[in-house]
Amino acid sequence: MGEFAKLEVDGKVYMLPIVQGTEGERAIDISQLRSQTGLITLDEGYANTGSCKSAITYIDGERGILRYRGIPIEELAAKSSFIETAYLLIYGHLPTRAELRKFSELLTENQYLPEAVKYNFEGFPSNAHPMAILSAVINASSCFDPSLMRWEDKSSFDVHAARLISQVRTIAAFSYRKSRGLPIIYPKKSYKYTANFLHMMFSMPYEDYELKPEVVRALDLIFLLHADHEQNCSTATVRMVASARANLFASAAAGVCALWGPLHGGANQAVIEMLEEIYQSGDDGSKFIAAVKDKTNRRRLMGFGHRVYKTYDPRAKIIKKACDDLLEVLDVHDPLLDIAKKLEETALKDEYFIERRLYPNVDFYSGIIMRAIGIPVEMFTVIFAIGRTPGWIAHYKEMMDNPETKIYRPRQIYVGPTQSSFIPIDERK
Ligand code: CMC
Repeated sequence: MGEFAKLEVDGKVYMLPIVQGTEGERAIDISQLRSQTGLITLDEGYANTGSCKSAITYIDGERGILRYRGIPIEELAAKSSFIETAYLLIYGHLPTRAELRKFSELLTENQYLPEAVKYNFEGFPSNAHPMAILSAVINASSCFDPSLMRWEDKSSFDVHAARLISQVRTIAAFSYRKSRGLPIIYPKKSYKYTANFLHMMFSMPYEDYELKPEVVRALDLIFLLHADHEQNCSTATVRMVASARANLFASAAAGVCALWGPLHGGANQAVIEMLEEIYQSGDDGSKFIAAVKDKTNRRRLMGFGHRVYKTYDPRAKIIKKACDDLLEVLDVHDPLLDIAKKLEETALKDEYFIERRLYPNVDFYSGIIMRAIGIPVEMFTVIFAIGRTPGWIAHYKEMMDNPETKIYRPRQIYVGPTQSSFIPIDERK
């Protein structure tokens, strides 16, 4: 006999089953609530709502724990690569050597964009935001593969997944080259995933970009740390779109749009813009913190706070260390890093942030690493999108493999006018 929660409404008692996850998390199953009681639940922003059961990523926001398929993020950051981690997320286990080789080969085979897709880049103004280009071109490239439209057919999934992971990176690099009026650089077969991205971003037709192992490793780590984060806004969007049986590319394109927002993936760009503003104004960060606390101006300390983490984001800890290490190796002194550290120190001692349990999140230090690598600020959220793509694919697959997947269709409490009559135009005041 399972556990139940008791709900009393209008004198009648209802027994709602309690479900438990493998880490002991508990939820009240309300799937029969409306049919039994006529009531729905109301939870704006879904802060208390589990939208699915998922076996991909586990987060304990109180204790600062993040695991992909059970493996702590700290271990993956120290021992794995982005591509190996992508395999883990999508297929549920660490690959054997043979599996990893096959996956890498599939990625390489699928990295070239169909020639006609390239013409899409011509239609954008040079100052177009690369997230707009990324979303549009991912969606457009789905037109080139009719097999994508067959949701039920799982036989092409491996190829589709590899194509999306590879092409997101190629589209991202091409959109950057286009925005700078630079010639497109094609991927090299001999380079691995992250090295190839740097090559496509920074090489010239007459001279290859010099790949520094520390730089490749730092960017690979950023991709890996962003690879999944359970039901975040963009992943929930991907799942929402996929629930209508939209194809993988259309679902991922929608995810890119959600990720673009400054409260989500766009925060990494917003952090650097905020740090630059503080630097230009000559403030050491204290005036900015005071402005954030003054609720009349609705400013936020970007890169701080999280819906789930009520302690230090474990990814932020890893990134902060990687940031210090990389800047030292490259012998870069970035005044924005000093400001970021001062802001963190001040905020962590301040009652406003302590009371609300606001700590640095993944976006607080990642921008400083990307600046040191030479990635322009408008590409930061694109980097997040490249990293998050395997997570979106893993969630898509999880839904596709689950015969109980239903279309996502929340309800609402209507608060508009009650029935009223149509007024002819001449009688309207
Ligand atoms: N600076 C100042 N105050 C903040 C901040 C912040 N960064 N974040 C939250 N608060 C305050 C907020 O004003 C509210 O105060 P009060 O109770 O007095 O009204 C309280 O803390 C709770 O905030 P909330 O907006 O209800 O919390 P939420 O869970 O809805 O929002 C968040 C989470 C991430 C959107 C928010 O913390 C935020 O806007 N942070 C800045 C943007 C950012 O860094 N986003 C990246 C998130 S991590 C990467 C990702 O997953 O996308």
